[in-house]
Amino acid sequence: MNDKKTIITYGTYDMLHKGHMRLLERAKALGDYLIVGVTDENYDRSRGKLNVIESTKKRVKAIEALDFVDKVIVEKHKNQKAEDMVKYDVDIFAIGDDWVGAFDYLNEYTHVEYLARTEGISSTKLRKENFDTIKMGIVGLGRDTQDFIDESKFVTSIKVNRIYSDDFLKVKAFTKDNELIKYGHDNYDEFLDTNIQAVYIDTALKEHYLLIKKALEAGKHVLCENPLALGKKELKELLGLAKREKKILLSAVKTAFLPAFNQLLKELDNGVIGDIKEVRATRTSLYKEKRYSDNFIQQGATNILSSYPSLLVNKVLGKSKNITFFDQVENGYDINNLIITKHKKGTLGISNVAVGMKSEGDAVISGTKGYVYIPAPWWLTKTFEVRFEDTHRTMKFNYEFEGSGLRYMIAEFGSLIQRGKRQSKMLSPSDMVGINRVLLEYNESRNSKNKSKNKKEEK
Ligand code: CTP
Repeated sequence: MNDKKTIITYGTYDMLHKGHMRLLERAKALGDYLIVGVTDENYDRSRGKLNVIESTKKRVKAIEALDFVDKVIVEKHKNQKAEDMVKYDVDIFAIGDDWVGAFDYLNEYTHVEYLARTEGISSTKLRKENFDTIKMGIVGLGRDTQDFIDESKFVTSIKVNRIYSDDFLKVKAFTKDNELIKYGHDNYDEFLDTNIQAVYIDTALKEHYLLIKKALEAGKHVLCENPLALGKKELKELLGLAKREKKILLSAVKTAFLPAFNQLLKELDNGVIGDIKEVRATRTSLYKEKRYSDNFIQQGATNILSSYPSLLVNKVLGKSKNITFFDQVENGYDINNLIITKHKKGTLGISNVAVGMKSEGDAVISGTKGYVYIPAPWWLTKTFEVRFEDTHRTMKFNYEFEGSGLRYMIAEFGSLIQRGKRQSKMLSPSDMVGINRVLLEYNESRNSKNKSKNKKEEK
């Protein structure tokens, strides 16, 4: 009989500190074999822990380096603890007493022991002491402005305190009695001349290019609603400018930063559905709410929405080589567009976008072993299913997220600035070029069609 006593404990262990070390040492002293579960970044983010500085890999390495730790595992979801108790035949589950009561349910599987927490130290405190808060301004009083401000309250690295819009009266009304946004500007140069380090841009799409250019030239990091520019040349210029200025330029495609979306990409990378052959995604919206002005919809379905399906298609299949459009144009703008893209090894991307018309906004990724189904609205990814021909084998993944989902993107933006990084792995500059290729080509083809039509009319 094996009388070796196995202890298990879990934590994030960001910026490993004295409190963590003391807890782990005491946990080990309870028995012979210590297993440490380090929480995965996607799981942490899905449970609201947004401000962790170090990657899962880095945190795992730091714990592995401790000679009294016998095994390190990664904790990926809520039910894993109970599964681990059985899997590793655990004798004691130890955890700091900040969790008293929270894990009593595990007494069913093992003995739960709460250990006294070390006073006066925490990762939160270290993050505060080591990193300055980033001051940020908002450009435009757009559709998502209020939402952005509300969501930024959950991100400790960022403080939004200024707003710019060319509409003086609107700015005045917005900042009046606003507890967070104390300063309003109707002059962009003056706004950029303040001590803000970063801006979030949410204006009419055609204004993005110039606003981004000026902000980068003024030395600000930029987070901007997609598309960053409406022409290929302009997008390239902006990405080049950000690189030269050593600043972050990030498209605000919030899906790219959601915990479930990133977990989905990991599962696909691990080959859960075999070789991927096709990605299909739909996004439509009626845009009926008051916050959308009459001319919003006239920017066209492709410009407003295609970056979302393009994100999924490009992240999974890589760069598109060949694009075909089947559009439906009414009153001079596309209300509906079925976009078919070809990728490496002949794989297919099928994106459908529409405005003023409603359809099922789901996504399907098809592979040689099975497929992934993401229910509508797939771009607010919370759950997805991996399905096989044998329906008994279906696997369900669930990563609920808080609020509107913007906080994950804001947290990544803040974390990049704090860590001195210029590119996000979740949405790299080449991802941004990839997801914009569709709309930029569509605009080019429409412009040249219009030109030749005008020429014919002149004749
Ligand atoms: N811990 C401790 N004493 C501290 C800090 C943490 O004993 N001063 C314990 C926790 O109770 C937990 C483990 O260390 O069992 C990992 O905790 P973690 O949440 O990763 O560390 P915190 O410093 O509490 O992180 P944060 O501030 O982000 O919540």
